[in-house]
Amino acid sequence: MEELNRRKALRVGGAFGALGALSVTAPAQAQSLWTWSARGSVAGAGNGADPRWVWDPEADPLVASLLDRGDVPAVNKLLRTWTRNDQPLPEGLPNDLRDFMENARRLPSWADEGKLAKAVDFNEKRGLYLGVLYGLASGMMSTVIPKEARAVYYSQGGADMKDRISKTAKLGYDIGARNAYRPDGEMIVTCVKTRLVHAAVRHLLPRSPYWSGAADEDIPISQRDMMVTWHSLPTTVMQKLTAWKVPIASAESEGFLHSWQVGAHLLGIMDEYIPASWNEANAQAKQVLDPVLAPTPEGIRLAEILLNLGAEIDAGILSKPVLGAFTRFMLGDRIAGWLEIPREPLWDPLLRTAWGPFVAVREGLLPFPLAPEAYWTFDEFLRRAALLFLSEARPISIEIPEGNRPF
Ligand code: HEM
Repeated sequence: MEELNRRKALRVGGAFGALGALSVTAPAQAQSLWTWSARGSVAGAGNGADPRWVWDPEADPLVASLLDRGDVPAVNKLLRTWTRNDQPLPEGLPNDLRDFMENARRLPSWADEGKLAKAVDFNEKRGLYLGVLYGLASGMMSTVIPKEARAVYYSQGGADMKDRISKTAKLGYDIGARNAYRPDGEMIVTCVKTRLVHAAVRHLLPRSPYWSGAADEDIPISQRDMMVTWHSLPTTVMQKLTAWKVPIASAESEGFLHSWQVGAHLLGIMDEYIPASWNEANAQAKQVLDPVLAPTPEGIRLAEILLNLGAEIDAGILSKPVLGAFTRFMLGDRIAGWLEIPREPLWDPLLRTAWGPFVAVREGLLPFPLAPEAYWTFDEFLRRAALLFLSEARPISIEIPEGNRPF
């Protein structure tokens, strides 16, 4: 009952709603023991420390000091011009930041060009599925990762979810681009900027009276949290593709994993926590992702905002039921129930019966396509989803926040 009131309070929105939310204790967090061995990591060794208590010791004090010194507006302005992987850093950055970024932008010694090239092959062939999976499996899953949902809800970006999604979609786009990590690509820049954003959030969020009342932690975005989110991305995507029987050559599967391993490193995740193989990734996800999934009032609200994004285009008539049905299809009844997504009598059965054959046909497993209408329906949905999740022709600039979400 109390939980319900908290939810209602959040729905009302605004300062009063958020204050109401504070009156109820957050549900206990399921935190499993950390037993995953660093022997299964890309580093091959580590000290075994639970990443729950490790953040980003290089970036955090630096960005805290930028915020305290009042340097962030000038830094953001300069960094708006820094977009390509091979571009020199802009003149005028504070020296400590410049030194950090010069180091942070370097690919790890274990980055393998051959594997990254295979990732490109994979992304080209499977871009269709990847778009849907990143948006609706990973994106919606983030709303049932309590710590992430709360961090996003109470941080500056929580006030404008469309803008926030366009920035996250940029990362998904950049990692899937042909030139992702090449000199003319943008993935390195996106990761380094995101690393700075996360460091800022660690400094800022604990000062938000709303977050500190709702969250059961002192500093957000630990190394463990980052791995949890990482698993909601490539690990979940690969699990779904496997479940859909998409035949993926092992070199391409390896390549896709590798592109995300490199991304994790550039986001500031330590090598000793980055899984070296899919087996290791699945084992780690079982330990850190599966047990934490749970509904929160903040996540339910975020999911509602996400499902309503299409309303601008079609008043929600088609997009909301389709997005809801896709979420149920991807994440299952339990999570759809948590997110209060209604059942869709038309779309739920259609997805259940048509998606498998659709994938099979696309993959050349079945000789004949289904009715053209079914193709059209899915393709039309994908175009809409792309419209929703990529931004509207505006340049997307990932910037260091200076404050939290105002209520
Ligand atoms: C910002 C990606 C992990 C919370 C961002 C941004 C990206 C991103 C691209 C920039 C968007 C923006 O500026 O709004 C990722 C990836 C992760 C990860 C790829 C893991 C592999 C996490 C985790 C949390 C988190 C674990 C919380 C527990 C946030 C917050 C912001 C942010 C609060 C700032 C929103 C704002 O106020 O603007 N993340 N993130 N992220 N991320 Fe993450």
